Amino acid sequence: LNYRVPRTRKEIFETLIKGLQRLEYRGYDSAGVAIDGNNNEDKERFIKLVKKRGKVKALEEELYKQDDLDSKADFETHFGIAHTRWATHGVPSAINSHPQRSDKRNEFVVIHNGIITNYKDLRKFLESKGYEFESETDTETIPKLIKYMYDNRESEDTSFSALVERVIQQLEGAFALVFKSIHYPGEAVATRRGSPLLIGVRSKYKLSTEQIPVLYRTCNIENVKNICNSRMKRLDSSTCLHAVGDKAVEFFFASDASAIIEHTNRVIFLEDDDIAAVTDGKLSIHRLERSASDDPSRAIQTLQMELQQIMKGNFSAFMQKEIFEQPESVVNTMRGRVNFESSTVLLGGLKDHLKEIRRCRRLIIIGCGTSYHAAVATRQVLEELTELPVMVELASDFLDRNTPVFRDDVCFFISQSGETADTLMALRYCKERRALTVGITNTVGSSISRETDCGVHINAGPEIGVASTKAYTSQFVSLVMFGLMMSEDRISLQKRRQEIISGLKSLPEMIKEVLSLDEKIHDLALELYKQRSLLVMGRGYNYATCLEGALKIKEITYMHSEGILAGELKHGPLALIDKQMPVIMVIMKDPCFTKCQNALQQVTARQGRPIILCSKEDTESSKFAYKTIELPHTVDCLQGVLSVIPLQLLSFHLAVLRGYDVDFPRNLAKSVTVE
Ligand code: G6P
Repeated sequence: LNYRVPRTRKEIFETLIKGLQRLEYRGYDSAGVAIDGNNNEDKERFIKLVKKRGKVKALEEELYKQDDLDSKADFETHFGIAHTRWATHGVPSAINSHPQRSDKRNEFVVIHNGIITNYKDLRKFLESKGYEFESETDTETIPKLIKYMYDNRESEDTSFSALVERVIQQLEGAFALVFKSIHYPGEAVATRRGSPLLIGVRSKYKLSTEQIPVLYRTCNIENVKNICNSRMKRLDSSTCLHAVGDKAVEFFFASDASAIIEHTNRVIFLEDDDIAAVTDGKLSIHRLERSASDDPSRAIQTLQMELQQIMKGNFSAFMQKEIFEQPESVVNTMRGRVNFESSTVLLGGLKDHLKEIRRCRRLIIIGCGTSYHAAVATRQVLEELTELPVMVELASDFLDRNTPVFRDDVCFFISQSGETADTLMALRYCKERRALTVGITNTVGSSISRETDCGVHINAGPEIGVASTKAYTSQFVSLVMFGLMMSEDRISLQKRRQEIISGLKSLPEMIKEVLSLDEKIHDLALELYKQRSLLVMGRGYNYATCLEGALKIKEITYMHSEGILAGELKHGPLALIDKQMPVIMVIMKDPCFTKCQNALQQVTARQGRPIILCSKEDTESSKFAYKTIELPHTVDCLQGVLSVIPLQLLSFHLAVLRGYDVDFPRNLAKSVTVE
């Protein structure tokens, strides 16, 4: 905050807490804050860290308990950092929450949004240098690494941003970071790669510039320090942003505009590898190499959005936002796990149990709702890759049947929330029978992830819409990755594995292509939204698509919808077909193609008017279609990731046209914690 008009600690706290509360919609499990403990030149400086598990409210209460904020603050300060965490590595707890610190003296503190994929190597390196880690997070390597850089700096006047620059050269993965240090009082340094980061700018006075020039340096790592130091000394008023006439300007760093919009709507969006530093109340931006966009400056932009809009981006509902996040969420699921060069897959949470899993009698995959459908969708490929019998079970039914379970069974529990009561009860049931239990959840620290023997975190990011979308595709990809890991040394399966791994690689691009059909699907929704029923039919790899598509439609449009196995058509559902009944058929170029053609003939012979989801290159099916939606073609066992998306979009548009609340459908809850 404002350098020239010093703020009290109370003002800083309040700004930080409010900002965190605005970010809570992204999911939270703990929160923390770091602020100067004193700024008295005569006393030793320190940074005060307060962290708390739970909602931001709990942190706020803790702060007021610890700090007499209402009394006249005995000093003024300028800069604090705060974070709300949604666990990826390590359970939710005060120790795992951010800011993470370099050492007990809090010399360097850091907040991080993202995942550091090479943190294990960094941790090993730092431990070999005598650093003791206190948390289970990937983030803790960052403050320790910067302290290492600081302790080993060659010159006394190495700048804060030069240190950060060295740190990010060692990091792999995704990050948005803000650093604070007792060695650089009142200075802030922030940087990003892959995760969003913006800077809000507030000033009552005219700013020195609307475009901040980016300072570049192309040099090798050895001489970074010297060049950096000399460059930092050369910083003059034309290379930084300040208010004209020596008047105050305030800067707010945030991963999302919602956190700062009540203070300012003027923002600078940082690009990957930009390093932004506020020193002496002035903002400068530099980078090691030219940016991809090659833009030599960063403009201050004015946001016109309302708070609600910012949280949802350009989308009208969280569900819609989450559907459109799928190109990134599947990448996050695979990040650091699939090695496309060596065609290997490593799921860290399972590797110690792999031998045991390979020896088991059968796999049982258990879930509810959408999570169950992810199991149905991948059953066939898992049978193929693991060469084991795979049972797929709805948790409630599995329990109702007192299903026999043995100690040489491996039981998977699929759950976005990790808290669904039915799935949790099934987990306890299997544990009692000594089976090995594996959790596949989107929520680290959830009951299912804690109570299982091992597991996979799908890393899809928080899902807010009650109707699950991106969690489904990430569960799907996680289960396929498991199959790939199991089959690594099966020589007969190498070609197939290669084909699937290539399919995974192109998945994000193909998802984007499917999402570009949105307008066409909206037009289809305009035709269908007054109907009472909608049948979705298919078979083989795409049967799950039909079940999941029909569930989406039921959940948010309140239309009657059924997912029908095309092979069962003649055993009953055919009686429903006539001119009026809307039918969607999923027909892909896979081993079931010919059989699906038979079903198509049966439907058209009864004057049905099928809307067909088919491959782009399929000229046959479209001849009989009332309408077609053409999808890019991928390997058969991954096609379901693509074919479900038009149905997610269709259900969304139908619900909007019917006037319903997409994110909070009547009678349903995101997480059902009762049996
Ligand atoms: C609820 C939700 C569904 C979800 C199901 C399983 O019914 O409304 O969208 O698929 O629970 O949830 P889980 O968190 O276990 O995946």
